[in-house]
Amino acid sequence: MSAQAAASFEPSPNNMEAFWMPFTANRQFKSKPRLFVSAENMHYTTIEGRKVLDATAGLWCCNAGHGRKKITEAVSKQIANLDYAPAFQMGHPAAFQLASRLAAMMPGDLDHVFFTNSGSESVDTALKMAIAYHRAKGQGTRQRLIGRERGYHGVGFGGISVGGIVSNRKVFGSLLNGVDHLPHTFNLKEQAFSRGQPAWGAHLADELERIVTLHDASNIAAVIVEPVAGSTGVLLPPQGYLQKLRQICDKHGILLIFDEVITGFGRLGKSFATEYFGVQPDIVTSAKGLTSGTIPMGCVWVRKGIYDAFMDSAAENMIELFHGYTYSAHPVACAAALATLDIYKDEDLFNRANELAPYWEEALHGLKGTKNVIDLRNLGMIGAIELEPIPGKPTARAFDAFLKCYEKGLLIRTTGDIIALSPPLIAEKSHIDQIFDILSGVLKTLD
Ligand SMILES: Cc1ncc(COP(=O)(O)O)c(C=O)c1O
Repeated sequence: MSAQAAASFEPSPNNMEAFWMPFTANRQFKSKPRLFVSAENMHYTTIEGRKVLDATAGLWCCNAGHGRKKITEAVSKQIANLDYAPAFQMGHPAAFQLASRLAAMMPGDLDHVFFTNSGSESVDTALKMAIAYHRAKGQGTRQRLIGRERGYHGVGFGGISVGGIVSNRKVFGSLLNGVDHLPHTFNLKEQAFSRGQPAWGAHLADELERIVTLHDASNIAAVIVEPVAGSTGVLLPPQGYLQKLRQICDKHGILLIFDEVITGFGRLGKSFATEYFGVQPDIVTSAKGLTSGTIPMGCVWVRKGIYDAFMDSAAENMIELFHGYTYSAHPVACAAALATLDIYKDEDLFNRANELAPYWEEALHGLKGTKNVIDLRNLGMIGAIELEPIPGKPTARAFDAFLKCYEKGLLIRTTGDIIALSPPLIAEKSHIDQIFDILSGVLKTLD
């Protein structure tokens, strides 16, 4: 190897150039980096040694809090014992154990589980399953997919096609064919400062009938929505909206997919939004809270009829679904997930979130009347603060809040001019007080 080539492999701890950071203003970040070096319970520690209170559970994922010994021990044990096992035509016990536990957490006959490594993969898996299911049932014309404006379903081509956030779509070409979008469910005039689900907006589900009339049900495979739209800035389903979607899907033989990547694993104070809203979809996608963010893992639940349709469509010695990932049901991820589920159960964290939710709601709505705050939204342990954008400078005000909160020891998340909050479910009331004390102080200082 030449000296020059060797030099290019020299590690450069102070050079931040090589890492192309995701969903980040790279140049701005690298000019003034924010680095975490450790985390425990409700706090991160920065490289300068400052404690930062986590009001976002990382990226909506660390529901059990940080540095949980039970998870680290399970992961260490597993990696020492069985570091990897192929998932195609081979298995290992923890995968089956985990799938059984996950199936038992879902209502009704959502009783088969497919493993992925992320929310994006879960979504693409679900969309592929929906199309292939109809074909297996002899209805191969059902190929169209329906998403929703402002929806976020990850970054795969399937996910951005059914998703509805323009910046995530506009530079990536023509995307998937045959996709329609329902209107989003947010209306500031009708819903501002609603506590919990807004009363206005169930009629927006009727748009599905319009799309069915346009294409005919025989061409439509599935509708995918987030029960609560998270990444776009917390848009809550109007009362009765999800029930209506379910009825219309049933009427036309369309599969309903709930993307529960954010709402799953206790975020709303129940195991899943499916349970919270009492609406059973045909397919559910998840990730994040499955391992409390510790090891990448996602999963997809399907109803028994869907699994059975695949089993019936192929001879017993044939592969029924030509889909999967090298790391599907990775043993280390399974160990992390099993330990995480133990923590959720042993500490009754979903009920804890449910009990904490009214305090959370009260604290959030205490910001009403604060300068620039044009809406406050909440459900379970999710909250959003919408700020009036600075004319001509969308996103700038909220990002300023993000930077100032970080300086004051609080991690929040912003999207557009909306601040989204989703603390770990181990939060104490004192953490909630601290979150809103810092926020209210910071909001008063913004332009
Ligand atoms: C509803 C929803 N679906 C899918 C995803 C994508 O998950 P991942 O980033 O793990 O691919 C996210 C991520 O925030 C999400 O909120």
